[in-house]
Amino acid sequence: MLAAAASVKPSAAAAAAATSKPAAFKPLHLPPLPAAVPRRPLSLAARPLYRQQDPLFVVSAARNDRGAAPPSATADGSRPVEVAAPAETARRAKIGVYFATWWALNVIFNIYNKKVLNAFPYPWLTSTLALAAGSAIMLASWATRIAEAPDTDVDFWKSLAPVAIAHTIGHVAATVSMAKVAVSFTHIIKSSEPAFSVLVSRFFLGEHFPAPVYFSLLPIIGGCALAAVTELNFNMIGFMGAMISNLAFVFRNIFSKKGMKGKSVSGMNYYACLSILSLVILLPFAFAMEGPKVWAAGWQKAVAEIGPNFVWWVAAQSVFYHLYNQVSYMSLDEISPLTFSVGNTMKRISVIVASIIIFHTPVQPINALGAAIAILGTFIYSQAKQ
Ligand code: 3PG
Repeated sequence: MLAAAASVKPSAAAAAAATSKPAAFKPLHLPPLPAAVPRRPLSLAARPLYRQQDPLFVVSAARNDRGAAPPSATADGSRPVEVAAPAETARRAKIGVYFATWWALNVIFNIYNKKVLNAFPYPWLTSTLALAAGSAIMLASWATRIAEAPDTDVDFWKSLAPVAIAHTIGHVAATVSMAKVAVSFTHIIKSSEPAFSVLVSRFFLGEHFPAPVYFSLLPIIGGCALAAVTELNFNMIGFMGAMISNLAFVFRNIFSKKGMKGKSVSGMNYYACLSILSLVILLPFAFAMEGPKVWAAGWQKAVAEIGPNFVWWVAAQSVFYHLYNQVSYMSLDEISPLTFSVGNTMKRISVIVASIIIFHTPVQPINALGAAIAILGTFIYSQAKQ
């Protein structure tokens, strides 16, 4: 019908023009053409970090607190629709590589982290070393110009401070949790982060969500509760560590949203600055909570048990912690928060399955059911939020 109407319109207009008086000439005012904007090179380090509108929605981290999508992005914050098909295919392939790398690096980190914590149960030092490795890698990259150093000012670091405090708490709490319970259990509890996001947004920020979002929290909370009560090696410190980590990461997102609006720092450099500031915050607490005496004795014991390879395990957990976080931030520069949250949940599935296999974690069917319900809940949440 629309096509028919469209085909009629020109002839009706022509008839009207034929019968009416010739119109006086009026100058046509057109808006000025936009000035040519030079395109940024497709450099990961150079790409600005846009703040997202709703950082609470994302499952994890300040790495989820990217800014609003660029003006040319589609409604869900993903990349522009005008991208030519081959470029879009290449972009999708690149995102696929990022995701695979992110999950693989995260699995490796979790395995080495747990191996280290089994032999050397000092989570305050291992979490400090993870931040130190990342800081050293990035400072060296900036010094050697492998990566472009960010252009930051005092305001940037001030706004980063609350983010870094929350990041530090979330990181240490997760590591404390993993020192006490199975890696799989920590990640099952961490898959409930969306529930924390919604509850904090609702009760602290007064935000409202559609009913399906609240309903989607039921399987998340119920699944986690089932997994927790049927966990064979349940430990309250391990459970609380994962819960505190969830809460801290949600607040990290809130602080990022407030503090980083309008700033333009690449994902990689943003995470690098976060690591450096978190390291500065964590260092005195690590000394106070554990300290060199305890570390020296523990280190000797671990080396005696494991052999010289222990040093490589520590190096691996520290370097892979930085690498997986860096790649996840780089992914976020390319994708919408929604896609990121789904990717993060799938990452947890890879970690849970890999760690159960590698550490021969005993799992009861009812325990696995709880984990499956919780993870399914996060997918339902993603859909409801969309
Ligand atoms: C940490 O040590 O910071 C946590 O293991 C982070 O976990 P996540 O990146 O899977 O949320």
